[in-house]
Amino acid sequence: MDYIPVTIKGCSVQILEGKAVSVARRAKIAALSAEFKVKAGRPPGLAVILVGDDPASHVYVANKIKACHETGIRSTEQKLPTGTTAQHLREVIEELNADPLVDGILLQLPLPKHLKGDEAITWISPGKDADCLTPQNLGRLWSGRALTTPCTPWGVMVILEHYNIDVAGKNAVVIGRSNIVGKPMAHLLSQANATVTVCHSKTKDLREHTLRADIVVVAAGQPEFLGKGDFKKDGVVVDVGIHRKTLPNGKSKLCGDVRLKELEGIIRAGTPVPGGVGPMTITMLMENTVKLANGHL
Ligand SMILES: NC(=O)c1ccc[n+]([C@@H]2O[C@H](COP(=O)([O-])OP(=O)(O)OC[C@H]3O[C@@H](n4cnc5c(N)ncnc54)[C@H](OP(=O)(O)O)[C@@H]3O)[C@@H](O)[C@H]2O)c1
Repeated sequence: MDYIPVTIKGCSVQILEGKAVSVARRAKIAALSAEFKVKAGRPPGLAVILVGDDPASHVYVANKIKACHETGIRSTEQKLPTGTTAQHLREVIEELNADPLVDGILLQLPLPKHLKGDEAITWISPGKDADCLTPQNLGRLWSGRALTTPCTPWGVMVILEHYNIDVAGKNAVVIGRSNIVGKPMAHLLSQANATVTVCHSKTKDLREHTLRADIVVVAAGQPEFLGKGDFKKDGVVVDVGIHRKTLPNGKSKLCGDVRLKELEGIIRAGTPVPGGVGPMTITMLMENTVKLANGHL
């Protein structure tokens, strides 16, 4: 698709519209899903497990189920109460591991405090790890033999590719080093031949790094903590952060880690929040599920 410069109110940087990219990508995934159905006699299947009553997690899960409908993936939802024991959660995951109609399993994180997300992930069969979080799949990713790809970083790469933003040979800075976003993001950028620096909470003089970077992916989980003065002229900024902030009138709205509106006339392009990386994360989850389903044929 062609490069379409878009302006959002008060901001003239090129907006990298993850939402639009996501719509196009979901149409392709729906076609792949239909092809699988012809071959297998059943649609690809994604099982989503949600433990507890975290409101944000409920919204994320509802969006994932909706995306399954859009892409022809059969979804099942296991809603477990907050007090679910580790033993019971393990049994649920093991049942899904053994279910031939389930190709991908997504365990919605975070889990309630008494459960360990890192441990529960290891109970998911690597062949059904739709989020690419198991140690086996992360190891495969690192060795170039991935079954799936971590959804958020993959979504970022798809956005950059869609807008013809060259990564090869560029200086990229990733802010954040979590297993789910920062680390795989740095890996994918490096695989695409960027020269990558990973920054984190102990980085001295973060700005020294961001000001040198052609591409900055911000995944620090710090609401609107970067803005004017932090980025290079004509750089590209991808904001992974997502936060709900309360406005003075008592209403709330979503924001990211970056104050995008301040970057008018400075950066070349940036992702908005909402409508940037978020929709892509869900779309890549669908693509991972279809990929896993084909591996089960
Ligand atoms: N849009 C989406 O689809 C999507 C998907 C996943 C996550 N997210 C959002 O992305 C953000 C990051 O998620 P996550 O799971 O990676 O978070 P996380 O596990 O909390 O990791 C945050 C990372 O940022 C680093 N950091 C924190 N404060 C910093 C600072 N002031 N300067 C530099 N680095 C700093 C931390 O450093 P240390 O390692 O030193 O602690 C850590 O590595 C969150 O807002 C999350 O909600 C969005």
